[in-house]
Amino acid sequence: MQSARTLARARGSISRAMSTSPSGLVPRLEQLLGRDAVLTQGDSMDKYCRDWLGQYGERALAVVRPNSTEQVAAVVRACSELKVPLVPQGGNTGLVGGSVPRSGEVLLSLERMHSVRFFDQDSNVLVAEAGCRLQETDEWLRREHSRCIPLDLAAKGSCTLGGNVSTAAGGVHVVRWGGLHSSVLGVEAVLADGTVVDGIRTARKSNTGYHWSHLFVGAEGTLGIVTAVALAVPPAPRNRAVAMVGCADWEGVRRLVHRALGPDGLAETISALEYLDAGSVDMAVTWGGARDPLDERYPYTVLLEAASADLSSCSQRLEHVVQSAIVAEEAVTGVIASSTQQERELWAVRESVTLALTKRGAGVKLDVSVPLSRMAGPEGAVVAARRHLANELPPGWLSNATSADFESLCGAGWNGGVDEGGVCVVGYGHVGDGNLHLNASIPSLRKARGMPEGREDALFAGAVAWTPPQLADAHSRVGAALLPWVPQWITEHGGRGASVSAEHGVGVSKLSYAGLSRGEGEELLMRRLKAALDPLNLLNPGRVMTSDH
Ligand code: FAD
Ligand code: MLT
Ligand code: ZN
Repeated sequence: MQSARTLARARGSISRAMSTSPSGLVPRLEQLLGRDAVLTQGDSMDKYCRDWLGQYGERALAVVRPNSTEQVAAVVRACSELKVPLVPQGGNTGLVGGSVPRSGEVLLSLERMHSVRFFDQDSNVLVAEAGCRLQETDEWLRREHSRCIPLDLAAKGSCTLGGNVSTAAGGVHVVRWGGLHSSVLGVEAVLADGTVVDGIRTARKSNTGYHWSHLFVGAEGTLGIVTAVALAVPPAPRNRAVAMVGCADWEGVRRLVHRALGPDGLAETISALEYLDAGSVDMAVTWGGARDPLDERYPYTVLLEAASADLSSCSQRLEHVVQSAIVAEEAVTGVIASSTQQERELWAVRESVTLALTKRGAGVKLDVSVPLSRMAGPEGAVVAARRHLANELPPGWLSNATSADFESLCGAGWNGGVDEGGVCVVGYGHVGDGNLHLNASIPSLRKARGMPEGREDALFAGAVAWTPPQLADAHSRVGAALLPWVPQWITEHGGRGASVSAEHGVGVSKLSYAGLSRGEGEELLMRRLKAALDPLNLLNPGRVMTSDH
């Protein structure tokens, strides 16, 4: 749960609480890596010590930037001897507060380890260092070898392969290629005592015992530092077709999802299947600068992408799905992009929601797996959360919550205008694989992230006019109302199709409720693994699991 203290910190600068560096640590690190690879001054460390959402992070003892596996191992050994905790960091785009330090910790950035080691043409396996950026590496692979990384997400320009593997990042192509567990063939990692384990394999098959490399997929830096990865990479589809459709109700979305995923739908050409509710589209347009391509705002908007080597097969299949969905009254209307520029515009609506939310004022960010019937619509999590908030918060706090037809509008996926002030709840996500992003946005006074000119007035001219202290209060009240209420609701209504953390990881922000999706035996196993691999609890302590027992 995001406490008032955490959120208050979010609006201030990074905590300067200085924790004493064990004597000799910094000179030793400088000796190992060279002085330019060790940062200790406030300003130079800031970007590493604050997370993307601006909600977490304290001043590190030092930021170290090794350029080889040997240097990583040397740093880990030095920290282990002095019992100093370490936080590995890739692109620092994580959304759960796990990539930034607390005071008393050393931040180890992999940014200097950004070489592709090799591409094996026979097995179609890429071996690359952990600090390689996703987009850059993907573009190189497409250009040089007509292959692609089977992962795409809006933070691709900054996030790294090591961070992707460590968070088991999902993104928009899981519906086609599965998660990273399907493509990671092996990792090279540095363990907590500095031991280097080399699991890099180009063999597609290797059954020589435990598939230990997969322990590092999603471990969020708590079991070791990933220094390189071997990834199976598919042929890059040469053509793609993108469409966006408007649906009047959730039942229409469900039927459309079944159609698109079925054998008569996009079949093997399926590349992405995403949804946004009206509030999310509003958010993307008002705060993210996107253009809504549909003639009017629909309760639900679905983005479909088909991709294949052959242009006619993906565009014909997509057109057929969209037309049949309209005839079957699953969708009301649809547009199919007819140029690369239009494809980008359609994707911009979906990809800009995250940044748009932080501009308006992020509040509570949830990332859950839930069966389709319980995702949105009258029986779904988004409506349940909105109703719950309307009951818990003072009248008028929820955007348009006092409107007489609130109930029916909620059921239809309506969110209240995002420009009207107050708290609003939006739902969007990877509907093709059952991953819902449920977010509550609370108007923010922070201008630093580029709040559009004049929007502040719009926000505060609504039903609620909050002063900054009232805003801090609003953050803690919304947090207290939604957490752990929504994760509990998901667990209760989603059965075995539910997870309270789908793709962003646990970090620190989901610590208080991650246990809802872990059985007692699983919790015990995780703790035994952690104790075996990191007995001194020095690698990302207190992330993923609490450090208390
Ligand atoms: P970081 O943020 O630096 O680190 C993330 C975690 O991994 C931390 O716990 C860190 O300690 C650990 N770590 C990093 N590198 C290593 C390493 N080499 N060895 C061991 N541990 C390491 N996520 C999704 O899953 N799907 C999405 O669709 C998605 N969309 C996003 C859109 C936006 C706009 C943003 C800002 C984020 C999005 N994310 C998404 C979250 C984030 O981008 C992913 O979690 C990404 O995989 C993090 O990569 P990174 O290199 O930035 O890792
Ligand atoms: C997304 O799918 O857009 C990302 O996971 C980020 C988010 O949840 O906002
Ligand atoms: Zn996502």
